[in-house]
This record gives sequence, C-alpha cells and structure tokens, in this order.
Amino acid sequence: MKILLASSEVYPFSKTGGLADMVGALGVALVNAGHEARIVTPLYRGLRDKFPHMTLVNWHFDLPLGERHVKAELWELDLDSGLKIYFVDQAAYFDRAGIYQEGQFSYADNAERYIFFSKCVVNLARYLAWKADVVHLHDWQVGLVPALIRHEHTSAGWGKPPATCVTIHNLAYQGIFPAEAYALTNLPKHFFHTEGAEYFGMLNCLKAGIAFADVITTVSPRYAREITTEELGCGLDGVLRRRREHLVGILNGVDYQEWNPAKDSYLSAPFSQSKLTGKKKNKAALQQSVALPVAEKIPLYGTISRLAEQKGVDIQLAALAEMLNADIQFVLLGSGSAEYELGYRELARRFPGKIAVQLGYNEALAHQIEAGCDFFLMPSRFEPCGLNQMYSLRYGTIPIVRATGGLDDSVIDYAEQTDEANGIKFYEYTSRALAKAIRKSLAIYQQPDLLRQYRRNAMKADFSWHRTVEEYLTVYCRTLKSSET
Ligand code: ADP
Ligand code: GLC
Repeated sequence: MKILLASSEVYPFSKTGGLADMVGALGVALVNAGHEARIVTPLYRGLRDKFPHMTLVNWHFDLPLGERHVKAELWELDLDSGLKIYFVDQAAYFDRAGIYQEGQFSYADNAERYIFFSKCVVNLARYLAWKADVVHLHDWQVGLVPALIRHEHTSAGWGKPPATCVTIHNLAYQGIFPAEAYALTNLPKHFFHTEGAEYFGMLNCLKAGIAFADVITTVSPRYAREITTEELGCGLDGVLRRRREHLVGILNGVDYQEWNPAKDSYLSAPFSQSKLTGKKKNKAALQQSVALPVAEKIPLYGTISRLAEQKGVDIQLAALAEMLNADIQFVLLGSGSAEYELGYRELARRFPGKIAVQLGYNEALAHQIEAGCDFFLMPSRFEPCGLNQMYSLRYGTIPIVRATGGLDDSVIDYAEQTDEANGIKFYEYTSRALAKAIRKSLAIYQQPDLLRQYRRNAMKADFSWHRTVEEYLTVYCRTLKSSET
C-alpha cells in the first residue's frame, strides 16, 4: 500500500511534543511492514544545514491562497530506513525562529501558513507520479486536506483521489480562526456550514477534518470514547458522535530504537531488565547533573512535560508542596506557560536541595530523567495517549498517572492486576488524590522486592510499533474498501 503522511512536525526534523515522535515512527514502521510510506512536512529554519543530504526536487508550487498566488519549492530526503521525507520550502512562512510561536505568542498568520501547507499536500497527492492510496493527516494543521481533496474530486476533474484518514492527537487544539480566513481555502461556501468547517461563525480546521475524512482515528481507545462525551469533547463531541462509526482509537507505539536503556547514547551506563545496576549509576549521574544531593536511598521523582493546563500542573504543584516535606527529590524538565514556570521556580526556592527545575527543551536530559528516576509523575487532566509514561516503563521508572486517555490504557495498577502491576493510578483530579498516589509509591519504594517486581513488569511491557501499525493498516484497508463502493 502507498501512504502519504502529512504533519506539521516530524521527529528528528522538528518537534514540540509527541506528535513529532508518533509521525516519524509511524512512517518507519509502515516501511518496515513492507509498505511505501512518505511524509510531507514544512522546511523549518536550519533543516537544510542539519540534513545536508536533502535534494531539491524539480517541483514548483504556485497555488491560489485567497486572492493571491503563493510559490514554494520542494526538497526531499531519503532516510536509511527507506522512508522518504518531502519538505515544503516557503521561507516567508517557515524560515522562522519557532514552529507555531515565539515566546508566549502564536504567529498571527498560522491560518495562512497551514492552509498553504495543506494545499501543498493536496497538490503532491494529486500530481506526484507516485500515487498514494491513502493520505494520512495529523492534527488541525492539515485538517482541511480532506475537504480540499473532495472539492477537487467533485469540481476540478480529479478522477480517483486517495482515501483520507485524519488522526486527532489532541482535541484541545483545533485551529480555530476568524471566518475571514476561510477565503484563503478558496473552497466554495457549502463546506462552511455547521456540519462542516464552520464553528460558531469561525473557521475550525480540525472540525473540517473530522467532518470530511473517510476515517478518523485518535491515539488511544479510551480517548476515542472520551472525546464523544461533553466533558472531554472540547465542543466537538456532537460532530464526533455523528461520525462515531468512522472513529477508531489506536494506542501509539514506542520507537524502541530511540528509547532503549540498553543502547541509549545519552546515558552514563546502559541497563536492562536482567542488568539493573546501570540504573543506579544513571540516578547518581542525574542527581549530580541537576545539582541534587547524590543519594542512592532517597526516592527520585521526575516529570518531563509541556507546562500546559492539560498536563495537570496545578495539582502537581500543590501535591509537591505537600510531599516535598518528606525525604524525596524531584526533577522537572519542561517549558510552557509563564505562570506554571514561575510556580515551579517558587517551589524550588522553598525546597532547596530537594527539587531541580530545568526550564527549556533538552532531548539528552529527557532520556537521562527517564533512566535516572525511580518514579515518573504524569497527573494529566486529559491525555490522548502520552508517550512519557511508556518511555518510563521501558526505563524501569514507575509511572504515577491519572487514569485518563492513553495513560489509563497503558499503565497497570495493583488494583487491576496484582501480579502484573507496573504503575500507580489515581482517579480524582485533585492534589489530594495525587499526593495519596505518591504516598503509595513511597510504600513500594520501602519494599525492595515489591519495587523490583514493579520494575520487572514495567520493563517487559511492550508497545512496539508492529502492533500499532497493523491496526492502522486495517483502518486504511477499510477506507479503501468504502471508497470503492
Ligand atoms: P505531548 O505531545 O502532549 O506533549 P507526549 O507524552 O505524547 O505529550 O509527548 C511528549 C514528548 O515530548 C516526549 O517525547 C517528551 O520526552 C518530549 N518533551 C516534552 N517536553 C520536553 C522538554 N522540555 N525537553 C525535551 N523533551 C520534551
Ligand atoms: C498529543 C497528545 C499526547 C500524544 C501525542 C502523540 O500531543 O497530547 O497525549 O501522546 O499527541 O500522539
């Protein structure tokens, strides 16, 4: 099968969160499963220098964008895995310091930037000699692609367009813009209605994707159920319920080439299920590098996160303020809202020598935290899938999670399966419930045999991509069958 994936971020080229990890790994996994996958993504600043082997394609985009025409070039890069990446080169839109924003401010022309990118995706799907069977779109940035394809099919002579699949990585980000932005799509008015791209008089790019895609997926089975409810539907539960038969939840996989404690070049010592001594060395190295007292016996907790409301920062700050009175240490790596960054800085001032706060983005430290900590905190308000809890499991770092979305689907609590328990779950969204879960972890920590059993169970949990990819292939086949009828 031929699959064209489109995403505004792809690891290792650009990344603000799990979306990039997921799309990069899905592409490789599809190729490994014997299919032809290609990915299209914007050419952001610095990529040509970082990946000097990319080559210019003889391809000139010149596409209508409202009343103007905008030009762009195309680059390609063949990865060793066999995956081909296309980069849309439009310097005015993408050669910038940030991906979506600079500092705390989103770029004012994000609608224009990603509507243009969506049109480039459609142009490639239609005119490349390599004809994709399925175009797989990720998140709101490419949410308009199914509508654009339908339009070219019904009104612009595109005989047999590919099937479309839209994956929702996070329903909280929908790409909502003033109605005037709709003119940039050059679509006729009939796509802009309450069952389509319109949302309370505004343009909603993700809603358009949900309405017009052949199939919709999201990144865990539980989140697929949650988003059809008013509580977690972010205003789109109605349209999702209408399309329920075409909505599938598929848990993300983990790229175990990147996240493997036995072969991780960021670590100070390798370790595995059968050779756990390396984990101790990583704990000491981490304590030293973030300036916490090096102490083997003190339980070390960690979090790596975007500091956004979704991630439960408010209850985590309150629970830590209580729990840091106990003999524990905590390390945070994150960046995001100024208010939450300040909250963590203040906590660090109150508990010197117990908490390390590293603000910013740091790939190496992310791996070192996964390896060196005893427990990983992820108290999300909601979580479509979540990758860090799965990385934690592989690194023998026991996840403490709120039972929501993919966190609930990937972690096993003692109350669910005594022998298989590999993490701690709590349910109520309160700092009290989180503090109680942390107290449970302290009790586990004090029983070495039990801790060892949790670690063993954690490290053997398997979220390999081949299972995930099979589920996507089933979905693709379904769309192909339904578009034939
Ligand atoms: P989300 O996509 O909602 O942010 P996920 O758990 O799916 O959450 O994925 C987050 C990804 O981003 C993980 O790979 C994590 O290691 C990485 N990450 C998040 N914040 C940072 C940071 N400050 N530095 C390095 N990596 C980070
Ligand atoms: C989003 C979600 C996260 C998920 C990731 C990859 O960023 O917030 O839960 O793991 O996408 O699908």
